[in-house]
Amino acid sequence: MATAEQIKSLIKSHLQDDSERFVTTALQLAAYEAHKGHTTLARDIRYLIDKQKSKQLKLVSFHKDLSDFIHSSKSQHRLSDIILKPELKGRVNKILKEYYQRQKLLRYGLSNRRKILLAGPPGTGKTMTASVIAGELKLPFFTIQMDKIVTKFMGETSAKLRQVFDTIQNSEGVFLFDEFDAIGSDRGRSDDVGEIRRVLNAFLQFIEKDQSKSIIVSATNNMKILDKALFRRFDDILYYELPSKKETLRLIENRLASFLVNLDVQTLIDSTEGLSHAEITQACYDSIKEAILEDKTMVSKELMINNLKNRKSVYNHK
Ligand SMILES: Nc1ncnc2c1ncn2[C@@H]1O[C@H](COP(=O)(O)OP(=O)(O)OP(=O)(O)O)[C@@H](O)[C@H]1O
Ligand SMILES: [Mg+2]
Repeated sequence: MATAEQIKSLIKSHLQDDSERFVTTALQLAAYEAHKGHTTLARDIRYLIDKQKSKQLKLVSFHKDLSDFIHSSKSQHRLSDIILKPELKGRVNKILKEYYQRQKLLRYGLSNRRKILLAGPPGTGKTMTASVIAGELKLPFFTIQMDKIVTKFMGETSAKLRQVFDTIQNSEGVFLFDEFDAIGSDRGRSDDVGEIRRVLNAFLQFIEKDQSKSIIVSATNNMKILDKALFRRFDDILYYELPSKKETLRLIENRLASFLVNLDVQTLIDSTEGLSHAEITQACYDSIKEAILEDKTMVSKELMINNLKNRKSVYNHK
């Protein structure tokens, strides 16, 4: 049997989280047992260690795989591109302002708001907001696809998240956890629930511990399923809504641009009800395309109404 010293050393290294010393002691133990003729026990100990080592190696090599789940780009979006209600725009401005003056805040022991949760229905500008922040701050824009990480790395998602947060620490940028709700959603398999809880908890801890300079944005369109505990970890939460009439008018004018000509946008307003910024944008682009293909330089009211109707029927079929 192992000596008292070996047992104490094993316990100590485990408690001190010293895995290297733990492995060394275990190997010494295996050698000691082999010497005493306990070859099966020695072999079993070595097998356990080797198995763990190959698992660790796999984790390290996963680092390369991150490129499948983190997409990096340079954002060209500016604040003037996005149409938000004044209150929301003010909140985005505050994030920018605090970032610009972060050194000033730091002198008073304060940090700029940089852990942000964006919540609201699809197509209302959450992803676009993250891109606008990156564009305005001239920071690289990284998008992390949580749903892909969770699906591909079931059971190892926390390890993946650790690598993502290492990246956040090492490269300053705007990091968007998009489809963030994927980790909270019911994917139709009851055995996923435990894993999803674990992932959410891990995510919370990583967010909380993060001391980087990066701006971390999480976007969700399903607030109900998210844990209330999550909210405390964010410096700010921005709630998105479908566009008001005023915002809809500005959006259409903005999107149709030179194709607007003498179209009275007011007359379209009834046809836009219930549609998101993204759907209205799509209807504008569809109309412009049709106009171009018919060699026209303007979009007619009928064309717009037709395309807005099409968007609505797509929406209703979902
Ligand atoms: N508030 C907005 N102002 C201007 N354009 C917008 C706005 N919201 C959405 N759009 C247009 O719709 C497109 C898609 O929007 P975006 O991806 O930001 O929506 P989202 O809120 O992230 O939706 P989802 O919840 O489905 O991810 C944008 O690229 C932009 O063209
Ligand atoms: Mg989005």
